[in-house]
Amino acid sequence: MSLTAVLSRIDADVPQALDRLFELLRIPSISTDPAFRTACDRAADWLVKDLESIGIAAEKRVTPGHPMVVGHADGSGPHLLFYGHYDVQPVDPLELWDNDPFDPKLEDTAKGRVLRGRGTADDKGQLMTFIEACRAWKAEQGTLPCKITIFLEGEEESGSPSLVPFMEAHKDELRADLALICDTAMFESKTPAIVTMLRGMLQEEITITGPDKDLHSGYYGGIAINPIRVLSQIIATLHDETGRVTIPGFYDGVPELSDQMQAQWDALGFDHAAFLRDVDLSVPAGEQDRTPLEMTWSRPTCEVNGIWGGYTGEGFKTVLPAQAHAKISFRLVGDQDPLKIREALRGMITKMLPADCSVAFTAHGASKACVIDADDPRFEKALQALSEEWQVPAAYIGGGGSIPVAGYFQDILGTTPLLIGFGKDDDALHSPNEKYDLESFHKGMRSWARILAALT
Ligand code: BES
Ligand code: ZN
Repeated sequence: MSLTAVLSRIDADVPQALDRLFELLRIPSISTDPAFRTACDRAADWLVKDLESIGIAAEKRVTPGHPMVVGHADGSGPHLLFYGHYDVQPVDPLELWDNDPFDPKLEDTAKGRVLRGRGTADDKGQLMTFIEACRAWKAEQGTLPCKITIFLEGEEESGSPSLVPFMEAHKDELRADLALICDTAMFESKTPAIVTMLRGMLQEEITITGPDKDLHSGYYGGIAINPIRVLSQIIATLHDETGRVTIPGFYDGVPELSDQMQAQWDALGFDHAAFLRDVDLSVPAGEQDRTPLEMTWSRPTCEVNGIWGGYTGEGFKTVLPAQAHAKISFRLVGDQDPLKIREALRGMITKMLPADCSVAFTAHGASKACVIDADDPRFEKALQALSEEWQVPAAYIGGGGSIPVAGYFQDILGTTPLLIGFGKDDDALHSPNEKYDLESFHKGMRSWARILAALT
């Protein structure tokens, strides 16, 4: 049978697939840092060439930011749109990496073989699982089992600023019967899963300014306002003592979980103690009246991602800083409106400013949450294919992260997104020593081969 041949081809070609992935991983495509702009461009070029090597007509498409890569391959059957992102997160703190983040290695660990390096799991390793599955189909059958459009972005990790205009301008080219996204994880590292819910995102940068320059804290300390104190006070009021966010109107559009979804999640038996133990924690610290799974999947959050100002170098400097800065982001759910929340946040902060202080806001990414109706026979087929490959029943789960494109597929293209990824909880996404299990890569390729067959 043809699928069997494709799976065997994948098994036989793992070393070559790893070589290809490692080439891509060596390109430091950090999208948020302008210093890596040409690297992002090179990653896009590499992908175009790789897609062309399997007969997928691909192009690098310019945007005001980093380029998109779009490829088309004809085939019979339904039209599938595959999305992945070739950009990666910054690598700091670099000193916590055991190896060069952009010199990927295959490593033996107590839990099995892993690919180590920035982008192995998020998202280059994952996106290559799909491309390799296409390569194997093409090699064995001479053609793909479906009509396929490949759509790769280079700005996902920095809020996808070019994505909406690009999609609006190329709606007709991108619209498909079903969109596949490989940028998520399995449930508790062992159960393959389809993600049916992703949180949205709002990012805001805040700068509070007091005096016109950094001052001697002996001359001015006491009489002069300190912007770091002002900022700290503001940040401290963003949550109440139960963990709820205090921004006016923040919870507008936050739905309660349906009984059906609640039952489905309860049945998963999430081991939150183990999840926290993995990162040296023990107590769920979110809204105290919510379950741990709700905290990570279906409740909105407000997190301070960074805060700086004054003197933070070696030794000590008795300075009274002129400015204090913070980067604050929100995970959104249901129908929460990121732009309304941005306005409410700005209003609240402006109101709290004491005399002589000013505030400047810089807007970063904003995207709504995405809820996907899994009541679709194609989802059942994919779930079945996953279960067969991994030899355990696959599950429908939520996802705490954000993948803005999933919502845009729904709203701009009217195309349903099917989110399947093979990441594991201990992959250290966005952290030092990011890894992707060899098992995820190998079974990921095999899973896509099966899913393609199941969707024809
Ligand atoms: N791959 C992640 C999203 C993800 C993480 C999904 C964990 C499921 C589980 C993605 O690349 C990511 O990190 N996205 C950013 C988007 C943000 C910058 C808009 C995120 O979630 O922080
Ligand atoms: Zn990702």
